[in-house]
Amino acid sequence: MSTPLLEASGIAHSFDTMLFEDVSFALFPKQSKAIVGRSGSGKSTLMHIFSTFIRPDSGHVSLFGKDLYTQSEVAIETLRRYEIGIIFQFHYLFKGMSAMENVEIATLLANESMDASLLEKLQIADVMDHKIGDLSGGQQQRVSIARVLSKKPRIIFADEPTGNLDNETANLVMDVLEHYIQTHDAALLLVTHDEGMAHRCESIYRLEAKRLKEAV
Ligand SMILES: Nc1ncnc2c1ncn2[C@@H]1O[C@H](COP(=O)(O)OP(=O)(O)OP(=O)(O)O)[C@@H](O)[C@H]1O
Ligand SMILES: [Mg+2]
Repeated sequence: MSTPLLEASGIAHSFDTMLFEDVSFALFPKQSKAIVGRSGSGKSTLMHIFSTFIRPDSGHVSLFGKDLYTQSEVAIETLRRYEIGIIFQFHYLFKGMSAMENVEIATLLANESMDASLLEKLQIADVMDHKIGDLSGGQQQRVSIARVLSKKPRIIFADEPTGNLDNETANLVMDVLEHYIQTHDAALLLVTHDEGMAHRCESIYRLEAKRLKEAV
């Protein structure tokens, strides 16, 4: 098999109490994996560790074959800008700007060009000139997904990307994510408590009793 895009081993982390320990995980090109678990089990925290934003108490994380904790801040910043895309549980769109401006900023920062067909597929093409504040929650969520994919990342970290969406729209978003990873040799890590969405991934892991285990 090819080199993993993400590889983690021996990860442990605590805030007030220990969230998890001995977590190992890997993600290869074209793979989609879901992490499920109860609210508060540490799913978002684990995703923030894998995506460079939290350094764990112990363990190693490699992205694209390189150990994160031996790289310079500048190198990590470059990874964040060009190589990874994060769909946050609570999105960070610029409220006063239009949907199009929000997507354009991300595209410019990553030196990429915008893929208009993506907006069609996400069924937001006709609301792109509206201000973010005038869009519905589900439309805003799809704009944030368009923004992340426009960067053309190699790994997509998606934390409850379909939380505000009805089932049909949620499936549409999953179709777009799946198509993206297959056509860009990328990978998807989906964090969700929606088992139905998790089942759209190639494999499912459960964060439970402080351990991450593959569900069978
Ligand atoms: N920065 C922080 N400082 C202190 N405690 C934190 C911090 N971030 C998360 N926690 C705590 O860690 C625990 C796990 O939080 P996390 O957000 O990872 O859970 P989650 O599984 O994503 O939950 P949900 O399904 O509700 O999103 C929670 O008890 C939370 O309060
Ligand atoms: Mg969470």
